[in-house]
Amino acid sequence: MKSIRDKSLFKNKNYIGGDWIDADSKETLTVKNPASLEILGTVPKSGKKETDRAIQAAKETFPSWRKKTAKERSNILYEWFRLILENKEDLAEIMTLEQGKPIAESRGEIVYAASYLEWFSEEAKRTYGDIIPSHRTDTRVFVSKGPIGVVATITPWNFPTAMLARKIAPALAAGNTVVSKPSELTPYSALALAVLGERAGIPKGVWNLVTGDPFAIGESLLQNKDVRKLSFTGSTKTGQYLMEKSAPTLKKLSLELGGNAPFIVFEDADMDEAIKGAMLSKYRNTGQTCICVNRFLVQDSIAEEFATRLSKEAAKLKVGSGLEPGVEQGPLISEAALKKVEAHVQDAVSQGAKILTGGKKHLLGGNFYEPTVLFPINKDMLVFKEETFGPVSSIMTFSSEEDAIAKANDTEFGLASYVYTRDISRIFRMTENLECGMVGVNEGVISSEQVPFGGVKFSGMGREGSKYGMDDYTVTKYICLGGIT
Ligand code: SIN
Repeated sequence: MKSIRDKSLFKNKNYIGGDWIDADSKETLTVKNPASLEILGTVPKSGKKETDRAIQAAKETFPSWRKKTAKERSNILYEWFRLILENKEDLAEIMTLEQGKPIAESRGEIVYAASYLEWFSEEAKRTYGDIIPSHRTDTRVFVSKGPIGVVATITPWNFPTAMLARKIAPALAAGNTVVSKPSELTPYSALALAVLGERAGIPKGVWNLVTGDPFAIGESLLQNKDVRKLSFTGSTKTGQYLMEKSAPTLKKLSLELGGNAPFIVFEDADMDEAIKGAMLSKYRNTGQTCICVNRFLVQDSIAEEFATRLSKEAAKLKVGSGLEPGVEQGPLISEAALKKVEAHVQDAVSQGAKILTGGKKHLLGGNFYEPTVLFPINKDMLVFKEETFGPVSSIMTFSSEEDAIAKANDTEFGLASYVYTRDISRIFRMTENLECGMVGVNEGVISSEQVPFGGVKFSGMGREGSKYGMDDYTVTKYICLGGIT
């Protein structure tokens, strides 16, 4: 904390209607550093009252915000983008302190988050409609894209700044006003973003941030008819709950949910590239990424070699506090996350998987877990069926392309997939047959503000980022102009 230059970025209040306020009850939640387990500070434990107030503020400011020209909104979002980059070091440090990821990854996430503000500041001006050939001679037909109204966002702890930016940037660019609930584990990154939003000129009440009791805040957002859209990133179970509870008020939904990404390596693949991509995809953010590999599927003939090489690389990772120089893997977010990883590894080992490296809590204690490689795994193991969300590479073999596709699709999830092969026809067959929203071909890092991020099946609905990202935050209106003579 000492090295944060601009201490005013470290806020511990709600941001509602342009005011920085406590919870009415004055109750607070503590926020811990997952590396040291020390208390970083407290934030308001807000609930229904504060959330209702935030919704009211967003409702009242909607008419004036939507009336601004696209260019006016664009300029504010662009200034926000600029301020985020200007404060990158402080924002990255706040993130590492509360989230645990290595500082280099936090810096990367701040740039990634800022890129959504930049991108949607540009897209704001390109929210085009259409002129459609009319079905009658005396009418003309137009289509316009407009804002929805008050948008609620609920975002996770694994990418506390980027996931928030990816939602609020298109929402605000389109002319909506927003109420956001960040994760109670990582509220400071969101609050710092609000400080910069205020400095960038976001008018009071246009963006509101409420910290606190997730259930009480969620209920208020869900029940309120004025909240016309809900955008959520998190677990499938919570997504299903939110969808069910959004039914009575018929909210438009964007749900970016869990994944179970296969990483398929064929025998003709460039092994060096596959190992490089595997390391980047698997161990980013200590394996706590929705699109990170959950299951390695490797062709029989090269599986031993792949497993041996991957375990050597995993064993080299420097584990520690994200603020220490050279650290490549931080702690897991919580004891519950650690327990889940332990349970998955134990389950796999009890069913015959071998531990090639790691396989236990790290000597550093706390929430640290060793980078781990398990081989071979099978379909009955939890590591195959569920998202482990930790630094565990679970490797299984396949015999043929058909076998690889069947195993890859043998999951209710469908977020990301990865394929390594040099056969161009196979690339097309694989990308067409994999049931998912995103495919990396000979590439383990696929995220960018310019691409549509999202899944199919139990991984959710809607797309974030790219030119498609505006659709989730707009309504299409058809205008029939009559009396044309
Ligand atoms: C996620 O884990 O959902 C986000 C990862 C990314 O945007 O790359």
